[in-house]
Amino acid sequence: MEHFDENTIGKFAQLKTPFFYYDLRILDDTLAVIQQNIKDTPFVVHYAIKANANAKVLTCIRKAGLGIDCVSGNEVKKALESGFQPEEIAFAGVGKTDEEILFGLHKNIFTFNVESLAELKVIDELAGREGKVANIAVRLNPNVNAKTHHYITTGLEENKFGINYWELNTLFELLHQLEHIKLRGLHFHIGSQITDLSVFKTLCNRVNELQGEFKERGIVLEHINVGGVLGVNYDNPDDELIPDFEAFFNVFKQFLKVYPNQEVHFELGRSIVAQCASLISKTLYIKEGIKTNFVILDAGMTELIRPALYQSFHKVENLSRLSNVNDSKYDVVGPICESSDCFGKAIDLPKTSRGDLIAIRTVGAYGEVMSSNYNLREKVATIYRDEI
Ligand code: LLP
Repeated sequence: MEHFDENTIGKFAQLKTPFFYYDLRILDDTLAVIQQNIKDTPFVVHYAIKANANAKVLTCIRKAGLGIDCVSGNEVKKALESGFQPEEIAFAGVGKTDEEILFGLHKNIFTFNVESLAELKVIDELAGREGKVANIAVRLNPNVNAKTHHYITTGLEENKFGINYWELNTLFELLHQLEHIKLRGLHFHIGSQITDLSVFKTLCNRVNELQGEFKERGIVLEHINVGGVLGVNYDNPDDELIPDFEAFFNVFKQFLKVYPNQEVHFELGRSIVAQCASLISKTLYIKEGIKTNFVILDAGMTELIRPALYQSFHKVENLSRLSNVNDSKYDVVGPICESSDCFGKAIDLPKTSRGDLIAIRTVGAYGEVMSSNYNLREKVATIYRDEI
């Protein structure tokens, strides 16, 4: 499948740029591959709505039968409004407010993924006050290095997420004492954009050990939630429009100890939605510098903040000259008044001119949702392949 064909690119020329372009065929195919790999297994996939909360994306995901992972009260609200059932909703996050906890309790969501002992006590207290019992999973910090960018690493002792190993005894005491919580599972999430599959094997081994500690105390866990994590190919998206879910799930099939009647939950965000969207922009100016030439675009860090925030790479393509050779190098930058508003340095492109259409690939995850109005810029349009 081609993300762009000549016909679509021809239609882009009539549209106001910049805009997010979605090809939902890629999303549907990705969801089909996931389903294929989890059928006849105890695996359940929740979609991490933080990656992209676009209504049409959510509809595809709900139709595919996935559950949903939220990290704020508004995400829970959005999930419910989008047709997800309360029993399909997991709610994580280190700083849930009382209002958010009460909202989740009233809606009877599947589980609160509890990130600290302090939060556990507050949930118990609020549930008691409301005459309810809260379903919870405790998020444990497994101290596993995700070998990814340090800003998106979450499973090390130095990170703010989850309950640490040395707090386990107090946790067991609290689980015994508190009457308004029901422990359903364990939750782990060690980071994002992980491409080294050996990290998942290390995670499985660590989860097996930690699960053993609960088992020894006679605690039955209905589910083990191993979080999000799987990375995508930003360098060459067309080589891997659908991530290798077979290899990913196989690691868990092989190395995770699953007890009878236990489910294994995944919270996948990026790997589901990243490749189905591109940011389409127009070249405003070519500026000659001393050491480099600049392609100045009408899209910037307001639409895609990932390069500025995580030094992340997104493939840049000149759609107006796809058949030309990449014989020039440019720094591709946006119009925002910040030096970090740069999509990439020394990018190989064909000789580029004012008016050329430029695609920035793999923006379906953490693109539109992280966009801002900085410099008082307007929110840009969202265009779907089947609607132009
Ligand atoms: N579950 C939890 C508890 C999470 O915190 C996250 C992501 C996920 C699941 C989904 O992870 P994924 O499958 O997408 O890797 N804005 C950053 C990524 C931040 C990820 C935050 N947590 C970026 O643009 O790379």
